[in-house]
Amino acid sequence: MRRAFGLRILNANHKDIRRLKREGNQAVLHGHKFWNSSFLIMDYLKKNPLKRNTRVLEIGCGWGLLGIYCAKTFACKVDGIDADKNVLPFLQLHAELNDVSIRTENKTFQRLTTDYLSQYDLVLGADICYWDEMTGILANLIARSRRAGVKQVIIADPCRPPFTDLAERCMDRYDQVKVKRKFLSKPVKASGDILVVN
Ligand SMILES: C[S@@+](CC[C@H](N)C(=O)[O-])C[C@H]1O[C@@H](n2cnc3c(N)ncnc32)[C@H](O)[C@@H]1O
Repeated sequence: MRRAFGLRILNANHKDIRRLKREGNQAVLHGHKFWNSSFLIMDYLKKNPLKRNTRVLEIGCGWGLLGIYCAKTFACKVDGIDADKNVLPFLQLHAELNDVSIRTENKTFQRLTTDYLSQYDLVLGADICYWDEMTGILANLIARSRRAGVKQVIIADPCRPPFTDLAERCMDRYDQVKVKRKFLSKPVKASGDILVVN
């Protein structure tokens, strides 16, 4: 187990992780581990703190550490969705380990309707734009989030081309968009861009 940003994070060879995998929870869309871009957003949020009770949706949550960080650090109300139901037990294991409660649903980006998104103030996701088709899917999701009254969408990535295309689309389309380049040396070496759409 390691500790970072006040969270407890289990390593891939921890006995409880291995148990969940043995029980058949095999991720199929790259959600088999915790990815580093979440740390970029945690670092950003440390400097741009969220208000207590902010309603947060983590999309493509995987193990859900980013949402867990928002719940634990800022007392936000956090839900997580992922297209792969097999990742959700790993999120619940980490939620328990970090003493927070997170509601999860097995849902795709495409199925998040404007009505559904209207429940949230903030939509965030890390390492979720890695296939070409994801650019359009996430651009549409951002458009629906804005229509739904979501105040902010934050997505981070180590600058894979589909993400860079997404960031460019947002900059062409909206006024209140920031793309921040980040380099972290601790708790891991990580770099990438954070797309913030207000
Ligand atoms: C690279 S992993 C990142 C997981 C997590 N965000 C993290 O940083 O550790 C990508 C996640 O997005 C999920 N995903 C992929 N396509 C999706 C879609 N269309 N709708 C919802 N989730 C999706 C995958 O199942 C996986 O958990």
